[in-house]
Amino acid sequence: MTLYEEASFIVEKLSLEEKCKFCCGIDFWESFSKDELGIPSIMMCDGPHGLRKEIKENFCFVSSKVEKSTCFPTSTAWASSFDEDLIYRVGKALGEECRKENVAVILSPGINIKRVPICGRNFEYLSEDPYLSGKISAALIKGIQSKGVAACLKHFAANNQENNRYTVNAIIDERTLREIYLKGFEIAIKEANPWSIMMAYNRLNGEYCCQNNYLINDVLRKDWNYNGCIISDWGGVNDIVESINNGLNLEMPGYNDDYYKNIEKAVKNNKIKEEILDESVKKVIELILKYKEGKKIPYRCNIQEHINLAQEVAENSAVLLKNTDNILPGNTNQNIAVIGKLAKEPVIQALGSSKVNPNTMDNSYDAFLDNNCKISYADGYSLEDEEIDECLLKEAIKISKNKDIVYLFVGNPKYTEAEGYDRKNINLPKLHEKLIYEIGKINKNLVVILQSGSVVKMDWSDVPKAILLTHLSGARGGNATVNILLGKKNPSGKLNETYSNDLEDYPAMKFYPGDRNHLEYRESIYVGYRYFDTAKKEVKYPFGFGLSYTTFEYSNMKIKHNNDNTINVSITITNTGNMEGKEVVQLYISCLNSKLFRAKQELKRFKKINLLPGESKEVTFNLDEESFSYYNIYTHKFEIEEGQYSINIGSSSRDIKFSSIINKSGTCNKVPNYKEKSPSYYKLYEKEFNPGIEEYENIYGNKLPITTNAIHPFTVSSTINDIKHVYGGDLIISFINKKAYKFSGADRYMQITIKESLNDSPLRLMTMVTRGAISHKTITGLVNLLNKHYIKGLLEILRNTKRF
Ligand code: BGC
Repeated sequence: MTLYEEASFIVEKLSLEEKCKFCCGIDFWESFSKDELGIPSIMMCDGPHGLRKEIKENFCFVSSKVEKSTCFPTSTAWASSFDEDLIYRVGKALGEECRKENVAVILSPGINIKRVPICGRNFEYLSEDPYLSGKISAALIKGIQSKGVAACLKHFAANNQENNRYTVNAIIDERTLREIYLKGFEIAIKEANPWSIMMAYNRLNGEYCCQNNYLINDVLRKDWNYNGCIISDWGGVNDIVESINNGLNLEMPGYNDDYYKNIEKAVKNNKIKEEILDESVKKVIELILKYKEGKKIPYRCNIQEHINLAQEVAENSAVLLKNTDNILPGNTNQNIAVIGKLAKEPVIQALGSSKVNPNTMDNSYDAFLDNNCKISYADGYSLEDEEIDECLLKEAIKISKNKDIVYLFVGNPKYTEAEGYDRKNINLPKLHEKLIYEIGKINKNLVVILQSGSVVKMDWSDVPKAILLTHLSGARGGNATVNILLGKKNPSGKLNETYSNDLEDYPAMKFYPGDRNHLEYRESIYVGYRYFDTAKKEVKYPFGFGLSYTTFEYSNMKIKHNNDNTINVSITITNTGNMEGKEVVQLYISCLNSKLFRAKQELKRFKKINLLPGESKEVTFNLDEESFSYYNIYTHKFEIEEGQYSINIGSSSRDIKFSSIINKSGTCNKVPNYKEKSPSYYKLYEKEFNPGIEEYENIYGNKLPITTNAIHPFTVSSTINDIKHVYGGDLIISFINKKAYKFSGADRYMQITIKESLNDSPLRLMTMVTRGAISHKTITGLVNLLNKHYIKGLLEILRNTKRF
């Protein structure tokens, strides 16, 4: 009997009430149970880069009472490693920590595309490229699930910014959606079959993701044959009846009887068919059974090994962006200045639900000392205060004088990278920049170490001789950084996203942030290097770029057409320097004569290899038909356009070493051609890319919904902002605020997130934020009040609000 059949068998034995209870959490992190039938409650925890298990007495959004666990570098670093084997091992380690803590589901990985560099959560996502996101996340998922623990792939889909994330309506044409925003999910699902998936908060083309028929039924269930459990993002359900009817299986979290009773009432009133409910329950029970089954897999959890692995990830993901005169690696005999508080107090992760309680943490300052380096140190800046402190600056300059080498640590202040709100810009703090310029004037041997989970603007990049990007590098980032600086390890990370010169260079910024109802993805497929390379726009550092202490030579590219219609592409890589090192070989494909507008090239394969000095290896890639395909809006399938294709192999998107042209026959004659009505999409390099609305409507295939900030009538998804100007709105907001802070139980940092995002939050979310103190029914009461049904509203509030 399959687990699904077993689940179906169990569902038959449940009462309606029990079935409804299985479709929502019993608290913040746990599911309902039916022990008599052998179905325990399971626990779900964040993710993504470490296990974040809250201590039961303090369950909330997001508590400071969290069990200790290994803090891995954040996801952005995983992608920069370009190393599937390594990330598979991270997945295994996460799975082992879950097993040890009896956690059934880890809410990891998050793979939303980095559309704009200021998205607050980019540190938690993988890449601007869907192929890289898909492959790295598939490796992680396989690792987690090999230990009998469920991964939860999130956030499906188009949660590409934090501002307005709870309500924003992402308007995306079908092709862009399939090729860019869904592709990574598709790869991960087809390759690794995550046991669960999390639906995003936002709306997509008009419908909340948690009740989005297209996403759940057309894409997940029908097109991809996905058979796992579909879970809401925490507090992401707008209307539970619509959600269940459209295929959501589990609403998280849940607090009180309201949750299941809403479902029960709908079944009794025939608003949800019992067969549909049963299907949801089966999926939840099947997930629980998978975990029960998984527990039979033997495991051992050696935390020290995980900590070592965290270091290995940091060492293999740091990106050497610049190294003039081979100033790096440095050595222990040098007279060294170490400047910057981040050397002592690194930012190893960012704010929000991903923040773990690290079982250990190191720093670069100590790591230098452990390596017997002679160092002089100055803080350079304060981490609390962004004002320039002349005393700190002077001291830093004094210490940097006459040193053989200066290691200056810079990065984003603690609260900049966070869940719940976007960054305001991509600049480093002024005083970090000032230090770079000032120290650069008095010591040419300046090395900048950049701790950042997302793109920063680097107008200053000419000043230092070397720049090392270390991401948010987890528990052992300090040792990893110093090992690279001193040449014990050879850097091998490559950029998972383009570092442009300016924030405005990213085409999506023209349409960002939209408003709470309307966010156009008018730039279409032109995200990241797809835009920069096609537009031939100068960038600071291109996608896939990263230096090494050694050099690699590419030679002997060969193409072989196989009988099964696939193509083998081989290339030989030789380590021509004198240090062992790793190279990431990248394969891109360009369509040379397309009717459709296409990106100049797209990443289709990559491989990281290790080479000893003088050693050569041949790398072979197998290209299937899909590698050449685009999404056709007429057939609603990926198709191949007849024509010439260039297969490009290189060490970054801008450093192509070899190309070879092949012909392909087409799979569909009807290729959309937008040249006449949407010319801007074809001429990116001729003039500033700024497509008009009609041009995008032509691609979208319809008129865009009218931008309306209409707020009436109020609903449970109206935001706090919406009620600001309503008579009595102030009172309601102050009531909500008080409750939010009194009952949230969130940690000090999460309070900042709540505060920053409160105005954008829908009223219904207040139930989650206040841990049920403001109940569903109180919210309905508030909505009634706002809609001028005063008596009904007041009565509902008074009856249902506890703990005034
Ligand atoms: C986040 C998810 C997270 C969940 C539980 C949500 O706010 O968007 O990524 O897994 O909370 O903490």
